[in-house]
Amino acid sequence: MKIVILLGAPGSGKGTVAGRLASENEGLKHVSSGDLLRGAVAKGTAAGVEAKGYMDKGNLVPDALIAQMIKDVVAETTGDVTMLLDGFPRNLAQAKILEEMGAPVKSAVLIDVPDSIIQDRIAGRRTCPKCKAGYHVRNLPPKVEGICDACGEKLVIRKDDNPETVKDRLVVYHRETEPLIAFYRDKGLLKSVDGTIGVENVAAAFLKAM
Ligand code: AP5
Repeated sequence: MKIVILLGAPGSGKGTVAGRLASENEGLKHVSSGDLLRGAVAKGTAAGVEAKGYMDKGNLVPDALIAQMIKDVVAETTGDVTMLLDGFPRNLAQAKILEEMGAPVKSAVLIDVPDSIIQDRIAGRRTCPKCKAGYHVRNLPPKVEGICDACGEKLVIRKDDNPETVKDRLVVYHRETEPLIAFYRDKGLLKSVDGTIGVENVAAAFLKAM
């Protein structure tokens, strides 16, 4: 098993690209820290109850909480699989924890999108709570408004997708997560793709870069 890390601001398209590539390429597995946490919140587990307050405010959940979830997924992933790790690590401490897990990181790919277009991306996002497929009301609309193409479930707006929380998530991203760009560049693992060129083109560029 190898790991490809997805780096990028909230709304840069990490989930969209990883979900699409994993559905089209056998051997790629999409693991989203946000989906793991939202799953725990929905189930009402102890970790979910603890995480909810942080997530609703756009803050990072404690490192140990999310690290345990990622450790579990890494441990159960074997064979010739490339894991597209979306949302972890989110700060330098988590990057060190990932190194200590001993899972080989093949590359860290930054999906580069300026803050100026992030609010529009997130304001238009609709998400399937069942199969986790993501849409955008204008850029990537479902065939039937408000309904998931893949599983027919009613699409929802994420609780943390309101403009005020998005502003806070961007502040957290620049302060906590952006230093990972230099961290992986120094290790010779960093690649970067333009995240503004349409979903198909970003996915193709990402696949080439990783
Ligand atoms: P998480 O779920 O990871 O949220 P995020 O990083 O803020 O990223 P998003 O899911 O918002 O965006 P994305 O980049 O996946 O964009 P998407 O593809 O949907 O985390 C949520 C919370 O959980 C955090 O705030 C934190 O509290 C907690 N958390 C998670 N991981 C943690 C960790 N490791 N440590 C601590 N806490 C953690 O795209 C956005 C929209 O744009 C969509 O509508 C899409 O259709 C559209 N779009 C995508 N690509 C394109 C394109 N190329 N052109 C046009 N539109 C596009």
